[in-house]
Amino acid sequence: MRHIMDTQASLDAESYLIPFSQNVKLSSQFFKHFSPLDQEYVKATASVMKEDFLESAKILLPESRKKCVLICLGPKEDWTLRRARLLFRKSFNSLRECNARSVGMCLSDFVGPNIDISTVAKEAALNVEMAAYEFKEYKQKSEKEAPTIETMVYTVAPSTRARQCEKQVRMGGTIGRHVNYARTLSNIPGSDMTPSKLAASAKECGKKYGFDVQVLDEKEMRKLGMGGVLGVSRGSSEEATFIIMEYTGTSAKRAPIVFVGKGITFDSGGLNLKPSNSMDEMHMDMSGGAAVISALSAIADLKLKAHVIGLVPAVENMPSGQSYRPGDVLTSMSGKTIEIANTDAEGRVILADALTYAEQYKPTHIIDVATLTGACVIALGHHALAVLSPNDLFAKTICETGEVSGDYAWQLPLWNEYESDIRGTVGDVLNASKSREAGTINGAMFLYQFAKSFKHWAHLDIASTMTTASDQHLSKGASGTGVRLLVELAHCLSKK
Ligand code: BES
Ligand code: ZN
Ligand code: ZN
Repeated sequence: MRHIMDTQASLDAESYLIPFSQNVKLSSQFFKHFSPLDQEYVKATASVMKEDFLESAKILLPESRKKCVLICLGPKEDWTLRRARLLFRKSFNSLRECNARSVGMCLSDFVGPNIDISTVAKEAALNVEMAAYEFKEYKQKSEKEAPTIETMVYTVAPSTRARQCEKQVRMGGTIGRHVNYARTLSNIPGSDMTPSKLAASAKECGKKYGFDVQVLDEKEMRKLGMGGVLGVSRGSSEEATFIIMEYTGTSAKRAPIVFVGKGITFDSGGLNLKPSNSMDEMHMDMSGGAAVISALSAIADLKLKAHVIGLVPAVENMPSGQSYRPGDVLTSMSGKTIEIANTDAEGRVILADALTYAEQYKPTHIIDVATLTGACVIALGHHALAVLSPNDLFAKTICETGEVSGDYAWQLPLWNEYESDIRGTVGDVLNASKSREAGTINGAMFLYQFAKSFKHWAHLDIASTMTTASDQHLSKGASGTGVRLLVELAHCLSKK
């Protein structure tokens, strides 16, 4: 999609987005181009609509024959960044139904006591991109090529800094496209998005956006002693890969931030096979990996002044005669042995090696992102991902950044009291506790055993936000969770 900043305010578009709160503001930039009759028609329509947030109507102007979507912002004091995100998406969906190819909107219409013009500009472009996304790769040609909105034209009220807004629109559009790329990586079926395909996609991104990508094969992982990754991979006929990405937007000598993503390209559960109704979404179990690959792409595309490493162990978890078994003991790269209580708790086993591998970088901050536990979905539903860290301040920074980025995050405790649940009987650590209690905390507590050397480490469980929820006004399937948060974190942690 093209995003155009129209500083002349000629706003030449096939359709318009007109927000209102109590009354239509005739100060908006489109009305200069509307005839008195059309203006009156807009006002009259709004006056008979309910004044609830997201209440909307599609109208055809009687004189100019322009298509418009009228949408209610709700009471001014309740108009927030959170609401703005939903409104931009819902409006875009309505405008798409009008069959217009271009949409005009005035960014200044969305400014309020709780949201400034620069935020409006970024979030409008970002959320319009996210709303426009549909995964059509596997649809027949006619549906793939159906016409849709191609251009967004923005303007601002006179005396607003249009240049700054233009930059923000560009940034929002860029981040939105990388979120959508993560959604595609996750949405592609497991048979087509194997560990080697995921590695090839990372390489493609590196070439396109300017970061270095190296891929270790199983032989190289054996040399490094990655018994966790190799153990989980044993049951699959697909070779595991270990993807290493490095973006150097500042001195390479500066200690980096490391992002680690779970890259299980399909999680059948292994010998502890998942029940049949819990398996169909498990091609998205590499969503953490997709978030890390796409975040590096976005960071490089935006040319952030940061040094960022991305690590993605990519593995398929399958049952077979070669599979790792419940009761097996794997020796991880750290030397710690992992007692396998359940082969379906495979994510933490591969991440253990990735965390040990990350030690060589001596990172200022390290964050792992993983669709780790079903318990996370039970705890938080689909509107927040879970943050766990031994460092309370770091966890709080991440939650605040979640609010700013749109990837909402909520902290769960990682207290020592929980450590006893994952103590091994035969091996050093147990990959799953015997009870179903505190599943998300136990997963994080396991990972913590391999992250104790880091000053700032946090674990993000994104199982809850892996797929979109119906009231998010996004197409069904993968949500691209984590990309916005990681990009924002790379930006603010590198400033310090
Ligand atoms: N990939 C799953 C977790 C998951 C569930 C992600 C639902 C997204 C949606 C993970 O590997 C898993 O199976 N975890 C087990 C752990 C248990 C055996 C300790 C779970 O949550 O049941
Ligand atoms: Zn699993
Ligand atoms: Zn999994």
